[in-house]
Amino acid sequence: MFLTYSTKVHPSYGMTWSKRVRLGFRFWRNHSNVRSGTSWRAHLVIAMRLLETPPEVEGSVVECGCWKGGATVNLSIAADITGRKLKVYDSFKGLPPPSQGDPVAEHSFRNGFKAGVFGGTLEEVSANVRQYGAIEACEFYPGWFEDSLPHHEGDIVLAFWDVDFYSSLHDCLINLWPSVVDGGFVFLDEYRNIPYCAVFYSEKYWDKYFSTVPPGLVGIGTGIQVGMIYPDHRVPIMGPTGRTRVMSPESIGYCIKGTRAIWEYYPDEIEAANKKDPPVDPAVDHQPTKLV
Ligand SMILES: C[S@@+](CC[C@H](N)C(=O)[O-])C[C@H]1O[C@@H](n2cnc3c(N)ncnc32)[C@H](O)[C@@H]1O
Repeated sequence: MFLTYSTKVHPSYGMTWSKRVRLGFRFWRNHSNVRSGTSWRAHLVIAMRLLETPPEVEGSVVECGCWKGGATVNLSIAADITGRKLKVYDSFKGLPPPSQGDPVAEHSFRNGFKAGVFGGTLEEVSANVRQYGAIEACEFYPGWFEDSLPHHEGDIVLAFWDVDFYSSLHDCLINLWPSVVDGGFVFLDEYRNIPYCAVFYSEKYWDKYFSTVPPGLVGIGTGIQVGMIYPDHRVPIMGPTGRTRVMSPESIGYCIKGTRAIWEYYPDEIEAANKKDPPVDPAVDHQPTKLV
């Protein structure tokens, strides 16, 4: 219930308190029907940001990396309520082979990953959305990101990228970031993987590809608060049945286009600059020049 609390939900969507709770219940129920790599609580957080986005801000919702459509069913419902399209990009045949120089992919493949992991066909995903979500809100774009994303058209108000590899995240950023509207949201599932999220803090990356400063990522490391304790891989799975997790990765991280994750306060530099060029004391030095 606390996840659906927001004073910023736009009134035109008619999402009363009880409708929001019913939405959360539907997300929870869908989650037990369609396999998903992400939690229904995370889907609800994403849906709430969409409900807060005024309808006059134009743009679609974009999901990259859908597997069996577990998040797609829920995002399609939120897109439908807000009158937006949900554009779903995936290979529909699982993860790609590792790209050269992608440390995450290379590490995964050294540890037993095979191309095709997390595979869900377009038929499977669309059948799930038809049964549990809002298929009329969806458009599907099959193919490797490097081939499909450069053809993306239209503004994006909210995106959800759950794509596992550095190279896939790079494809999403390069091709889609320019279409994200100012104040738009980009959600990420890999919030626990700090080296992966580091791109959102890389001044070199953002300067090189976008001539701007990095936006940062809310929730990096532990995820944002979704009512579960943040995960710590050193803590074993515990509980009376052996199945309850004390720490559970049921969260999400996100960035907002327009935020600036840079540190600009260097006191030693200010001191040095002041010594070279002492600051003007407005009380003493700013007397109007007298014309004689
Ligand atoms: C972890 S799964 C996504 C799980 C899903 N978000 C959910 O909540 O159930 C990762 C997905 O990313 C897709 N993917 C990763 N890299 C890709 C690429 N370069 N091109 C196309 N699809 C890619 C895979 O096909 C897979 O469906």
